[in-house]
Amino acid sequence: MKNRLSTKLLAWYKAQKRILPWRDHPDPYAVWVSEIMLQQTRVDTVIPYFEKWMKLFPTVKALASASEQDVLNAWEGLGYYSRARNLHKAAKIVAEKFMGELPRDLDDLRSLPGIGRYTVGAIASMAFGMNEPTLDGNLRRVFSRLFDVDEFADSPAGEKILWELAAGNLPKGQAGDYNQALMDLGATICLPKNPRCLLCPLMTLCKAREKGTQELRPVLKPKKAVPSYVHAAAVIVERGRVLLSQRPADGLLGGMWEFPNARVEGDPAKVLVKALDSATSIKVKRGEALGVVEHAYSHFRVTVHPFRCEKVSIPKKKDLKWVKLSELEDYPMGKVDREIARRL
Ligand code: ADE
Repeated sequence: MKNRLSTKLLAWYKAQKRILPWRDHPDPYAVWVSEIMLQQTRVDTVIPYFEKWMKLFPTVKALASASEQDVLNAWEGLGYYSRARNLHKAAKIVAEKFMGELPRDLDDLRSLPGIGRYTVGAIASMAFGMNEPTLDGNLRRVFSRLFDVDEFADSPAGEKILWELAAGNLPKGQAGDYNQALMDLGATICLPKNPRCLLCPLMTLCKAREKGTQELRPVLKPKKAVPSYVHAAAVIVERGRVLLSQRPADGLLGGMWEFPNARVEGDPAKVLVKALDSATSIKVKRGEALGVVEHAYSHFRVTVHPFRCEKVSIPKKKDLKWVKLSELEDYPMGKVDREIARRL
């Protein structure tokens, strides 16, 4: 099936491929940036961010010498901000250790922050024309169906089978197109629900289609229920400035800014003052509520209740800053805090 699969796939790709700004782009840096952005985010969302990014940071060296604040600002809204921090860290390493050129050695590539097996395969095949497979969520689904894989696709055994299928069907000399064709197929035809089998160039080769198991593939382990948390946040404005707090450099929304807040149990209006004091040593008097903001992260949900507050006493800490209301835009924030800022 190998030749028939890649021949049909590549013919389809030639006719149907999506025109995307990083495609057919000889610049490995552009391929790298786009692949990191596309890891957890859809193509339509990525395009404007990619274009803005390449104007702001057109080369590895430009990115390496940018400030973390500018990098996080450019990423704001894309989510999973560790991607931006890792890209920035990796750019500094590439600038210093590899003279600003992404290394072609696969182990060197893999050693860079944020570059795992998927990204190595994508960059090697698309930017360097190497015969390397890759496997992302789309490809996992496509191969699970083409070969009717009944192993858990998110288990080590399933992963191994799927990487072997990706590698085993790869046409030499055309790996970049092959990998991207599979991505396009997964994004436009071999959809998670209601796959459009009648339009699929690989329909006659697809084992799942033959058996009618498309909707059952890939087999995934049952998802754990995600917890929900409630936070109360203090919006403390004084003489045209508002108090912001910077999150620790690592972890969720690392290095980004937020309104001082604390996780609460019970009625947020009642417990805000005490919870904020014990979490941050910020003492306030509570004022009016500013509505409710909800957000779903990958592993939990939060509901945030922001309140206008008056300061009683604020500890002197490096991560707290009085910011002009007119300059809030310059401080990178997650979706929740940007929404609170918008309401001010
Ligand atoms: N998803 C991840 N990488 C992609 C690419 N190069 N083209 C289309 N979709 C993608």
